[in-house]
Amino acid sequence: ARSGTVSTGRMPDPATVTSLVEEAHRRYGPISEGKVADYIPALAQASPDLFGICVAGVDGALFSVGDAERPFSIQSMSKPFVFALVCQALGGGQTREKVGVNASGLAFNSVMAIELNADRTVNPMVNAGAIATTSLAPGANAEEKWKFIREGLSRFAGRELQLDEEVYASEAATNQRNQGIARLLLGYGRLYSDPDEATDIYTKQCALNVTARDMAVMGATLADGGVNPVTRERVMDADRCARVLAVMATAGLYEQSGDWLYEVGLPGKSGVAGGLVTIAPGKGGLGTFSPPLDGAGNSVRGQLVTKFLSERLGLNLF
Ligand code: DON
Repeated sequence: ARSGTVSTGRMPDPATVTSLVEEAHRRYGPISEGKVADYIPALAQASPDLFGICVAGVDGALFSVGDAERPFSIQSMSKPFVFALVCQALGGGQTREKVGVNASGLAFNSVMAIELNADRTVNPMVNAGAIATTSLAPGANAEEKWKFIREGLSRFAGRELQLDEEVYASEAATNQRNQGIARLLLGYGRLYSDPDEATDIYTKQCALNVTARDMAVMGATLADGGVNPVTRERVMDADRCARVLAVMATAGLYEQSGDWLYEVGLPGKSGVAGGLVTIAPGKGGLGTFSPPLDGAGNSVRGQLVTKFLSERLGLNLF
């Protein structure tokens, strides 16, 4: 077998990881498929050429190449981490009961999924379940709830994450569909705060700026049983972490989650600004950034890089 293809309990040695991360960047840089998201007007301005990769080991080692320090909005990659924070605050059992954990097999913003599923919210990775999860954030008012989310996500990243005001304003002006989803859930008794407040906080959480490096560290925190490998701060309990990874494996790439798990064999989560975060439990996290997306809203280069590195670093869980 090629070195690094056989799964061991650890990441391969640093020299191997460095050369494979660089090879992935060279290999997939020239790919020109996919389309930058434009349904949020501010995202349409992103250059399709931006391309960054970072691998973070549970020992805190970081391996970056390309635009790994370039900020972009976290978008749907916020969903598993907000679910994690709410599970930590409310208990995993209650969150599961109030949101659900099954696959929808449908697009991330599907309204039909709400109508077809008896539990309505479906799971925390699709917009319906994510907005419901955000509505469960503890706090006496919108400001406290937002603080809970922003500070919690910042602990995962190990630095204070900032709001991209332009992306937030752009999405807030065009997110009537999410406002509709929140109201529909309220009608079904499956939203747990004011719908406009929940949609607004959800829109803000999606507009937090991160880098591929941040996403690798956030992923490595989930890989490390809830301890940030760089700051060494415990962000959440290990048993709750395992549940978050299960939901990511089920629905992290939406209707393509089955194909993803079949090929990559790891829990992952995409965002429409072009981010993709993947977790190798016990080993580390992988963050990629490349704006062009496929039809399901998942980064084309991100998926190729992750498939390549999962195989060559021996990360596939199965
Ligand atoms: O709610 C939305 O439409 C965006 N804020 C997030 C969607 C997203 O990232 C879907 N992922 N690939």
